[in-house]
Amino acid sequence: MDTSPLPPADLRGRTVLITGANAGIGYWCAEQLAARGARVLLGCRSPERAEIAVAAILSQVKDADLRIIPLDLGSLESVALAAAEVAEPLDAIICNAGVKAAKHTDRTSDGFDLMVGTNFLGHFALVAQLEPLLTPDARVVTVGSLAHRFAPLDPASIGTQWQGASLRHYGRSKAALMAFTFALAERWSDSQRIAVCAHPGYAVDPLTPPRPGLAEVSRLVRTLAKPTRVLVQGKDGAALPIVHATTGIDIANGDYWGPSGLNEFRGAPVRVSASDEVRSPETGAALWAAAERLTEVPFPD
Ligand SMILES: NC(=O)c1ccc[n+]([C@@H]2O[C@H](COP(=O)([O-])OP(=O)(O)OC[C@H]3O[C@@H](n4cnc5c(N)ncnc54)[C@H](OP(=O)(O)O)[C@@H]3O)[C@@H](O)[C@H]2O)c1
Repeated sequence: MDTSPLPPADLRGRTVLITGANAGIGYWCAEQLAARGARVLLGCRSPERAEIAVAAILSQVKDADLRIIPLDLGSLESVALAAAEVAEPLDAIICNAGVKAAKHTDRTSDGFDLMVGTNFLGHFALVAQLEPLLTPDARVVTVGSLAHRFAPLDPASIGTQWQGASLRHYGRSKAALMAFTFALAERWSDSQRIAVCAHPGYAVDPLTPPRPGLAEVSRLVRTLAKPTRVLVQGKDGAALPIVHATTGIDIANGDYWGPSGLNEFRGAPVRVSASDEVRSPETGAALWAAAERLTEVPFPD
């Protein structure tokens, strides 16, 4: 595993909900935060995969304090049930779960485009419904992407069908999540709460340390992937900017963090820059209104 450059923060007494905690970067956030003593709520859509992740964390962190929250971000009903199930104070929510490479015909159970519905609208509805449980100095950490620059973000068409390259539309869904984060930071400017975005760089499973039952990769593929480590990283390393955004004492409301290395693909967490578009207050406000209208979930004042 990449060596964390961060000081070991004692997170005992702190509770963090992580969406998509059963695999990839979300799993590594869960393991790393549990290792520091945090109580981790794993928001996962598959009970079986969630149990595998719990067993994997316990194999590394014997006294980990873990709880599974059933959560399918592609269903607003499931999101509402998950929010009701949490019912305990939250120090942080990490909006990590994500879908990429979907087809333009793929839909959530509410009929939204799968990437926008899962990556953005599901997280919007989740944070809105959990807001009353957030502690006074809570953090909402969203997982952005370099891809947020790949396509224009038009709030007026965020709910409509798209054409063209899937990767561009994935970028748009991530841009929407990021614009929501910065709009939330603006709302929280007079409070102790922090809304922050972090992106993981470029992370692949063959460079990720093995964990039982998670993304199993053959020894041959691991060996072949080794030379790529100069450019990209494992999902354990990719979790670092997100964990730092969740725990770092140098994090400010409205920050954006990512890896320090070439092209921001890998490396220790540093502040990075987001596009002017996702930082635009006008875009953020329009997107916020669109999210409330589409999800029919009002964000508490
Ligand atoms: N890997 C990269 O290089 C990279 C780069 C930039 C940004 N990111 C972002 O980082 C995040 C994690 O990526 P990753 O590479 O770790 O992906 P991953 O290995 O594919 O894991 C994705 C996670 O999201 C969960 N998920 C997907 N749809 C869901 C839904 N409807 N409800 C609940 N959970 C759902 C998956 O659960 P299941 O196991 O049930 O499918 C899984 O736990 C994503 O937001 C991604 O966009 C990744």
